[in-house]
Order: sequence, then structure tokens, then C-alpha cells
Amino acid sequence: KPLNIDVAAAEKGNYDHFMLKEINEQPGVIRNIISKYFNNYEINLNPSLIKSINNSSRIYILAAGTSMHAGLVGKRLLEQLTNKPVEVHIASEFAYYRPILDTNPFFILISQSGETADLRACLTYLRSNKYKTLTITNVITSTLAREADYALEIYAGPEIAVASTKAYIAQISVLAILAYELSAKDFDLKLELSKVAQAIENFLADTENLQALVSKYFKKEHAFYIGRGIDYATALEAALKLKEISYIHTEGFAAGELKHGTIALIEDGTPVIALISDETINLNTRSNLHEVKSRGAIPIIVTLESLKQKGDDIILDDVHPLLTPLVMVVPTQLISYYAALNLGFDIDKPRNLAKSVTVE
Ligand code: G6P
Repeated sequence: KPLNIDVAAAEKGNYDHFMLKEINEQPGVIRNIISKYFNNYEINLNPSLIKSINNSSRIYILAAGTSMHAGLVGKRLLEQLTNKPVEVHIASEFAYYRPILDTNPFFILISQSGETADLRACLTYLRSNKYKTLTITNVITSTLAREADYALEIYAGPEIAVASTKAYIAQISVLAILAYELSAKDFDLKLELSKVAQAIENFLADTENLQALVSKYFKKEHAFYIGRGIDYATALEAALKLKEISYIHTEGFAAGELKHGTIALIEDGTPVIALISDETINLNTRSNLHEVKSRGAIPIIVTLESLKQKGDDIILDDVHPLLTPLVMVVPTQLISYYAALNLGFDIDKPRNLAKSVTVE
């Protein structure tokens, strides 16, 4: 065997695939981020970065793929904790079709690799206009980290699987710390993040029920994730993850929007997974799921302990309301993993995809 294969196998430890290893590393990644950013209860962030964001009138988040979905969660964290308006833009769109910018914008670029060409095109434009920029990345020596005014490391460790899992969790955790530092700090984020790590660990300790569900239902041509509010952002990431590696055509929908067209695609046996992490939308999303069930869909519910009802499929521990996306995404990562495993695909290296896309 060539040496590099043995090395790769060794790094996988007891796991069959890097993706499964990286999913299981997530509680440790969050604990590592806590230890890097919190010095007791002080947060290690450059005061000049904080000042620069405080002085801005609007934050623009630019990213691609999974990092863009982390940006959608970041938007809610920043808006709720700072009251500052935040827009999220797909990097490849922003690079050439720019929105009208606020008078004093601040830009956050999110990129696991720090090398994505679509973001580099954005940064070239931002720098030539002297706009203030921050890159949030897993590779602190990367081009995007070096060329931005500020850079924050997400400390996820090397992510080998093409489908991003632990980097997504790490990006959101760092965005939460940044938003918190900009806020009145009226709760204990350090404690709440450690509860998230524990909740993920608890969930990962027993996934037999999830594996059985996947074996039974995830063989169809289509699948849908639905959610409202922040669960809609998770639905988009969950759908991307499932289609990336299982090649099942999957869409994430705002639960209330499904009935305005896409419900036509529901057939007997189509899995529809509802993500429910918020009391205010609990019943509405359930009623949307009921509509698709009566048209033949297989309804699957992922929810939190405090919101669960009899018969719900996947239950996670409650965490701070702003941090629910960190736990809600984990079962969806595993659904993708086991769906691809059952279908016999190359999980760590899905067809047509690259870990880092350095062409526009
Ligand atoms: C590629 C990868 C995705 C990733 C996206 C953005 O398309 O396959 O998993 O989300 O690039 O990458 P970045 O390194 O900028 O986060």
C-alpha cells in the first residue's frame, strides 16, 4: 500500500470515514474554542476589531456553501445581540452584483479554507474601497485571513471530509462569541456553549434510532427539510449536506412556503424532515408537516426535549435559544452520513466536489 493511505487510515482512528470522525469531534471543538477565546470570563478579542464593528452602521456577511449557511445563523446572533442590521450575501453574487451599501459598512467573510476564489474576488473589491473586513476561518495563514483587516481562527482542526461539519459548528460558535462581545452580555455564554457541547455529546452517544430511520426511509429520489425562522437556516444546511454526499435531491424550505408550490412534489414515501427548535413556531411547523403527511410523505420530526410530543423521532437536549442551531444540525449531518453509507457512495470524496474551490 502506498504510505499516504496508511497515514490517512491512521488519522481516521476508529472511524470508517473522516466525516464520521469530524462529526464526533464537535463537542471537543466547541470546548477548544471556549478555551481559546475565554480567559476566565474575559474574552480574547482585539479591541480595535470590536470598536470597528461598533462604529459601523450595518454588517455584511459574505460566504459560500456551508459557510454561507453559518452566516445565516450569524446574522441572527448578531442582530439579536447587537441590534445592528446584518445582511448575508452569497460571495459569487456579491462579487459582481453588489447591493446598495450602507454608509458605514463592516464586512465579515466566512471561509473554512480561507482560499475560496469567490470570496477573494469580493475582498479585492472591498480592499480597493478601503472597507473594513474580518475573515473568520479555520486556516489562519490563508490568503483571506492575511488580506483582511482582522482575522479570527475557528480552531476546528483539519477538516478532511469534503462535506463540512465541524467547521460549520466552529464558525457559528465563533460568531456567537463575537456577537456576545458586542452585546450587553446579560447571560453566561461560556456556560451556555459548554452546555451545547454536552448536548451534542449526549446525542452522539446513542444514534441507533436515527440509523434505523435512515435505513428505512432515505432511499427515495427526493427529500425535504422544513423549518421556520432559524430552523429554516438549518434546513438549508441540512439539505445541502444530504444532497452533497447521498445524491438524493433535497431541498430546504421555509415550512410555511411549501404549500405555495413545492408540495406538488410530495409523493408516497418522500421523507420530509421538520426541524423544530422554537416554541413560537412549534405548532405551525407541525401543521405543515401534517399537510405533507396527508399527501403520502413520511414525516420525521427533529426537536428539543421541551417541545417534544409523543411519537417525535429525534429529540435533543435543550440549550440557550440563540444556540439551538448548533445542536439541531448534528442529527442532519448523521442522516446524510448514514444515507450515503447505505447507498454505498464515497462519503469523504463525493463526486464533482472539491474541499476548496479556488476558481470563480
Ligand atoms: C466548497 C466546499 C463546501 C464549502 C464551500 C466554501 O464548495 O465543497 O463544503 O462550504 O466550498 O468553502 P470555504 O472554505 O470558503 O468555507
